[in-house]
Amino acid sequence: ARLVVLVSGSGTNLQALLDAATPSFGAVVVAVGADRDGIEGLARAERAGVPTFVERVADHAGRDEWDEALAGKIAAYKPDLVVSAGFMKILGHRVLDSFPVVNTHPALLPSFPGAHAVRDALAYGVRVTGCTVHLVDTGVDTGPVIAQEAVPVREGDDEETLHERIKTVERRLLVEVVGRMAREGWTVSGRRVRLGRA
Ligand code: GRF
Repeated sequence: ARLVVLVSGSGTNLQALLDAATPSFGAVVVAVGADRDGIEGLARAERAGVPTFVERVADHAGRDEWDEALAGKIAAYKPDLVVSAGFMKILGHRVLDSFPVVNTHPALLPSFPGAHAVRDALAYGVRVTGCTVHLVDTGVDTGPVIAQEAVPVREGDDEETLHERIKTVERRLLVEVVGRMAREGWTVSGRRVRLGRA
């Protein structure tokens, strides 16, 4: 399966997919897209010899025009699956109607959606948080859940220590899910996603 991965930052989830992409994995990263220049995620792609593209919202009249342009950039690589891994923009209809998109989120959705999930969970005082891999719909972190795993909050955690503990789990879960989707396919009925041939 052909993967296009979308990033906005350090790209350690992307790196996990790049490292996993052996022939038996069943998926290869064919391109990496970002909403901004100069991020480590793009450097990781370049080091791996993977083509990259950047589509900045600020370069367009509005979100719909950006969404259209991003969909075009993604389509050029003919992906079977798009993986949003730390991509910090809400994807619009043109992208979502054109490709299946999987996202990884550093909280147990529906708890703590949005861009500050780890900070919000810490502030709330939860003892257990985690990560969620889900299909993307037009909402913010509202798509059908594919997989989740719990991560304990420890005394003295700050946002960074907790997020890194979550990311350690997240990278493994994302690779596992993307590999299975690539090898086995998936079906969606309502809010239930089943991996494996229908
Ligand atoms: C991940 O925890 C992702 O869930 C969140 O931002 C982080 C991105 O990390 N949206 P990286 O860029 O993959 O290292």
